Amino acid sequence: MEILILPTPKAAERLAARIVADRLRDKPDLVLGCATGATMEGIYAELVALHEDAGLSFARATTFNLDEYVGLPPDDERSYHHYMRRHLFDHVDLQPENTHLPNGVATDLAAEARAYEAAIQLADGVDLQLLGLGRTGHIGFNEPLSALMSRTRQVALTPITRSQNAPMFGGDPEAVPPYALTMGVGTILESRELLMIVTGERKAEILATATEGPITSMVSATALQLHARCVVIADEAAASRLVGREHYRWEFENDPEWARYR
Ligand code: GLP
Repeated sequence: MEILILPTPKAAERLAARIVADRLRDKPDLVLGCATGATMEGIYAELVALHEDAGLSFARATTFNLDEYVGLPPDDERSYHHYMRRHLFDHVDLQPENTHLPNGVATDLAAEARAYEAAIQLADGVDLQLLGLGRTGHIGFNEPLSALMSRTRQVALTPITRSQNAPMFGGDPEAVPPYALTMGVGTILESRELLMIVTGERKAEILATATEGPITSMVSATALQLHARCVVIADEAAASRLVGREHYRWEFENDPEWARYR
């Protein structure tokens, strides 16, 4: 795992978008794993700007999102389908048939989960998976005690997550759907590269637990420590509790891999 510390949320989002853009230029048929949440909004805005101003093309790319609420149809403004159209899909040249999210209104959710896994396999797996970090340490919607080898499935959302996501539901945690379909931790770990973006002081504690704590299914994001190519981009505020932050800064300044991003 490498941790890159940037001065501001904006700088963190911009770096994440530059990495996505470079992977896309290197491999135009990139399979991009998309995440949702407030943190991702700035990254998608940067990608849209790169599409409009610098000709970045998604025409041959494929996307797979991490998760979707159970019971919300794609045209519901609070669904992740709608979020993705609003923030990315409607503004770039992705082919709609190449964008994938779990169907939260499928009549057979277990069959939907299996079909989603099969679709990822058919696309030859995810090249680069974007990740945010939930307050419970979740990646996707893998709440505490999700098996580190878990697959796409229906999960129950914890009260903490429902209150974290309440702003999208008029501020009422009870209005947040109680269930979601999510890629499993094991599914996520099969992506060839992982890029997690974490900003803000309120994520500082959980970021330290996720990256420097022991690997445990109690905190799904600790599983990222097992991945051979995982980059975490944090702003100063989110990085403030990291014991190793001076070392991470030194690495970012000195590792030739990051020279073009400094
Ligand atoms: C939701 C998503 C997660 C995301 C998290 C972080 O719970 N299911 O994939 O990581 O939000 O959200 P935010 O960026 O708003 O803090």
